[in-house]
Amino acid sequence: MDNRSGESPAQERKSGAAGGVDVILAADHLGNAQEVADGIGPGVKVAETADAVARGDQVVFATWFATTKDLLATYRDQLVGKIVIDPSNNIEPDDAGGVRSLNPDGVSAGQQLSQLLPDGARYVKAFGTLPAEALDATTTDAGATPVLFYATDDKKAGLVVADLISAAGFDPVRAGGIDATGRIEVFGDLHPFGGLDGRLLDRREAERLVKG
Ligand SMILES: NC(=O)c1ccc[n+]([C@@H]2O[C@H](COP(=O)([O-])OP(=O)(O)OC[C@H]3O[C@@H](n4cnc5c(N)ncnc54)[C@H](OP(=O)(O)O)[C@@H]3O)[C@@H](O)[C@H]2O)c1
Repeated sequence: MDNRSGESPAQERKSGAAGGVDVILAADHLGNAQEVADGIGPGVKVAETADAVARGDQVVFATWFATTKDLLATYRDQLVGKIVIDPSNNIEPDDAGGVRSLNPDGVSAGQQLSQLLPDGARYVKAFGTLPAEALDATTTDAGATPVLFYATDDKKAGLVVADLISAAGFDPVRAGGIDATGRIEVFGDLHPFGGLDGRLLDRREAERLVKG
């Protein structure tokens, strides 16, 4: 990515404009979306949720699992033909200062949410596979571009999301299909709050670990 503005790559990739991607932000309260957009910079628009869903070719549901379930039901008809990107982890705080899963045993959030899409909507798990603070990291410990995993049964939709991941300054690696979504959610073997023990991966190691 060209760094003409003098911003760090991490700052640059917070701006969809820096990656050439048009971004429309929505939220429960429009003012909150506006505040986030103002913090990112020019090129990021704000809209009511219904409007944002209608206008986007790819829709990222950066909401909590239960809210995402509701939104998928509300906007079911409007999602036909779109790529639905799900970053969710279905977790809650536990009594020991950590988090616990709210998923049924052996079932990922992605496996549950992907079932709720209408025919013609294309599910991809992505953009929730690192903790938010790690999205500011510009390199792995060894100086490589960090990997962001994605998982989908729809390989063409996956390539579209891979381009978004690249535009955001990360190296996209497909972990597998929807049955692999649990691997890249919290507690999964390919998640920093799971098998990776906080580590960011470069492409070579990520591809080796995906193969297992
Ligand atoms: N934070 C992380 O490190 C992280 C990492 C990986 C994955 N994730 C996943 O990302 C998702 C969101 O996490 P978060 O930490 O970003 O949560 P958050 O800070 O609580 O933000 C939730 C967002 O959802 C919006 N929202 C709530 N109800 C809505 C509705 N009915 N319509 C439209 N927007 C609505 C909220 O809008 P308002 O601001 O107006 O209330 C807020 O912007 C979760 O599934 C989480 O598992 C988070």
